[in-house]
Amino acid sequence: MRILLELMFFLFLFGYVNALCPMAMKMLAARGPNNSSLSDAYANAHPPDKRAATIPFDPATQYVSTTGDYEFVPPGEGDLRGPCPGLNAMANHGYIPHNGVATIQQFITGTYQVFGMGFDLALFLSLYGTLMDGSAITGSFSIGGTPPLGVGSIIPQNGLTGSHNNYEGDASPTRGDLYQYGDNYRVQLSQFQQLYDLDPTRSNYTLPLLTDFRRTRFSQSIANNRYFCNVPFGVVAGPATYLFTFHFMANHSAEYPQGLLDGEMLKSFFSITGPDENLTYIEGNERIPKNWYKIGYEYGIVDFEVDAVSMNLANPQFLSLGCNTGTVNTFTAINVTDLTSGVYSAQTLLEGNNLACFILQLVVMVLPTPVGVLAGFISQLLDTVNPILKQFTCPQLLEINESVLEQFPGWLGPGA
Ligand SMILES: *[C@@H]1O[C@H](CO)[C@@H](O)[C@H](O)[C@H]1NC(C)=O
Ligand SMILES: *[C@@H]1O[C@H](CO)[C@@H](O)[C@H](O)[C@H]1NC(C)=O
Ligand SMILES: *[C@@H]1O[C@H](CO)[C@@H](O)[C@H](O)[C@H]1NC(C)=O
Ligand SMILES: *[C@@H]1O[C@H](CO)[C@@H](O)[C@H](O)[C@H]1NC(C)=O
Ligand SMILES: *[C@@H]1O[C@H](CO)[C@@H](O)[C@H](O)[C@H]1NC(C)=O
Ligand SMILES: *[C@@H]1O[C@H](CO)[C@@H](O)[C@H](O)[C@H]1NC(C)=O
Repeated sequence: MRILLELMFFLFLFGYVNALCPMAMKMLAARGPNNSSLSDAYANAHPPDKRAATIPFDPATQYVSTTGDYEFVPPGEGDLRGPCPGLNAMANHGYIPHNGVATIQQFITGTYQVFGMGFDLALFLSLYGTLMDGSAITGSFSIGGTPPLGVGSIIPQNGLTGSHNNYEGDASPTRGDLYQYGDNYRVQLSQFQQLYDLDPTRSNYTLPLLTDFRRTRFSQSIANNRYFCNVPFGVVAGPATYLFTFHFMANHSAEYPQGLLDGEMLKSFFSITGPDENLTYIEGNERIPKNWYKIGYEYGIVDFEVDAVSMNLANPQFLSLGCNTGTVNTFTAINVTDLTSGVYSAQTLLEGNNLACFILQLVVMVLPTPVGVLAGFISQLLDTVNPILKQFTCPQLLEINESVLEQFPGWLGPGA
């Protein structure tokens, strides 16, 4: 009976899932934005005692256990691991189920316990993962490939490994581009080595340094991956992978409350062992370092927006949505004016809070149509995003013309 029901759901959803989501956008628009600025939003999210100069440090709440129930256990037969090092580490340490399939609630609890991720950001990311790559029926998704039927869902789901261009994207720090390497979930040692070598002292990998690395990786993908794409969700996922590497992998202390990230922490979180002259990658063995302290405040959507906007404003190429056209060095940006039916232009995107608006709006745009069991999750996601958009003055973007991406082989997949 359950099989039949799920199958019916599947068939029901199948015809709708690929469509864009004007209905969700109208729900969003109806709730309306208003006029305060991004800095006001940041100030609201962070009362003075929580802002940069006075980031708190409390060893008791920031210490992350790696013993007892949270002892490292490498993945075994059938355990799923994927492109996201933080989630792999959480599964290896028992903060989410060891098999690598977790529910929205488990992701929210786990990402807070291990990384101090704010509730709104965790909810947003886990709802999005469930909607795009998991099972909306069980409210869960796999951090790696497709789980065996019966785990998390009896309907095959993509998992994060199968989420190319909707969750996982090109030009990651350490993971290879899917169509360049044939997989998107393993560390490419050459990429890790580049990152590792950016600080010869291996003691202080900063946010500006990771931003430089993102610039390098972006150019490398254009130059080496003939199917490279920078797609709508990439405007979120792109900065996230670099920002999270700093905020979520750094060790926090009274001396460095904003975090200090060294080479040993990078190795641990990226599953690299061995001496500098012989670094070795063991797939899926990401570890939380021993005696390590997470960030001292809940890093939420507004924190992410502030970081992502400043990273993108300093590097407007990250905002060029588009792809290579089948050979390397042919990156072709789609026209923002056309994509947004004139609501934004390349110029206005950089003004006011427009970029902060655009980042969140794009995510909403690519959601599936809110039918059946999806509707509840989509409405929860909008409830998460909307109070934030409300604090900005956002132009009303009611739809994007995602089909303009269909001219690119890297969007549909080579051979499609
Ligand atoms: C603007 O947002 C603030 C904070 O969410 C809210 O208090 C205020 O009522 C809103 N103003 C309008 C005109 O919607
Ligand atoms: C928002 O800003 C616009 C333009 O600056 C102004 O005309 C409008 O009255 C403002 N709305 C609110 C609710 O403050
Ligand atoms: C890390 O590098 C930054 C930027 O160069 C510098 O401001 C900071 O003092 C350094 N921190 C340590 C602990 O070396
Ligand atoms: C490098 O490390 C690998 C795996 O740990 C080991 O098998 C190999 O012998 C090492 N090579 C050298 C030259 O040390
Ligand atoms: C984190 O910082 C604390 C305080 O400086 C230090 O005792 C601890 O060893 C550090 N952890 C790591 C993994 O370096
Ligand atoms: C984008 O399209 C608009 C309207 O179609 C046009 O005015 C503008 O010049 C185009 N921008 C670029 C960079 O091609």
